[in-house]
Amino acid sequence: MRTILKLTVRGVRCILSRLYSGGRPPAPLGGRILTNPDDVFQHNMWDHVQWNEEEREMAQQKAEENSKHKIPVEEQTKYDRDANKYWDRFYEMHHGKFFRNRSWLFTEFPELLPPDVGGICSSEKSQEYCSSPPICASFPGQHADLRILEVGCGAGNSVHPIINTIRGSKAFLYCCDFSSRAIELVQEHPDYDHAVCHAFVRDICDTTSPFPFPPGSLDIILVVFVLSAIHPARAQGVVNSLAGCLKQGGIVLFRDYGRYDLSQLRFKKGQCLSDNFYTRQDGTCVYFFTKDEVHNLFSNAGLEELQNLEDRRLQVNRGKKVVMHRVWMQSKYRKPYRLSSSV
Ligand SMILES: C[S@@+](CC[C@H](N)C(=O)[O-])C[C@H]1O[C@@H](n2cnc3c(N)ncnc32)[C@H](O)[C@@H]1O
Repeated sequence: MRTILKLTVRGVRCILSRLYSGGRPPAPLGGRILTNPDDVFQHNMWDHVQWNEEEREMAQQKAEENSKHKIPVEEQTKYDRDANKYWDRFYEMHHGKFFRNRSWLFTEFPELLPPDVGGICSSEKSQEYCSSPPICASFPGQHADLRILEVGCGAGNSVHPIINTIRGSKAFLYCCDFSSRAIELVQEHPDYDHAVCHAFVRDICDTTSPFPFPPGSLDIILVVFVLSAIHPARAQGVVNSLAGCLKQGGIVLFRDYGRYDLSQLRFKKGQCLSDNFYTRQDGTCVYFFTKDEVHNLFSNAGLEELQNLEDRRLQVNRGKKVVMHRVWMQSKYRKPYRLSSSV
């Protein structure tokens, strides 16, 4: 294991400068860097960890093994058709206790902080979030300066921290999930506040029904661990439809599972639906993205890249003296400003 760690540590030294793309300041993604392999058991998690060839090959092999036998196509339909029912059951069982509140939310996505509570300063904001189309009919959040939507919000692990942050500001939050049980949990939570948030049931694969706000009216869309839950064949349609909700200059903030994350390699044979797409014991599904796939999804929808990176970490079980690789994708994409044609 020492050899593996040494190679991993060597990779770290050259990685930091290559991590980020786009002209924005780099997101922190943690600063706990393992420089001496002997220190590995001193923390539970190390950031910015590079894989060596051996580790990559081992991961690839494990994924190939667990996806050799795909679930027969005729059995697969139910996972897509009844997806919301599987998630309803999930929330019935776990309530809001399964996912932890997203402690990294405002560090990684400071764009969520409204300018009047210490977010992007107003001069930058007016450049970033500006060109709204004229909006006529009344809708929740109509008078807000900053409109945020979280899709696939689950029990509200991001929603409630956002509500507590934007309360008293000129921001408004919309959030939706196709599990009605999840939306009930969001609304039953003591932090839920109708004055700053509108939670609604909505299947984001249904790209034809209207949202409770006009097209082109959102500043930010938060997409956290939800695209992975959707059949990969539907992902592009979903992203296209979300892009239509953004104002010019509006952004998508995305975080999700990356290819060969520990949770992919842990799947047993018989759980694979298609390449890198699996169903869990409870019937919910999960896809594992590469950086190129994320880039294609968002750029095919006409959005421009601000950030697209792999967040690679080493998770340490200090009791059992075991190290495990975690891989998440983190990306930010912006709807470009359209040049108005001069007459
Ligand atoms: C892994 S959970 C993540 C929940 C939340 N974003 C978080 O990070 O805590 C995935 C969520 O996406 C929701 N979801 C999956 N497919 C969806 C769809 N087509 N439309 C709306 N929500 C969906 C599920 O109900 C579930 O709440």
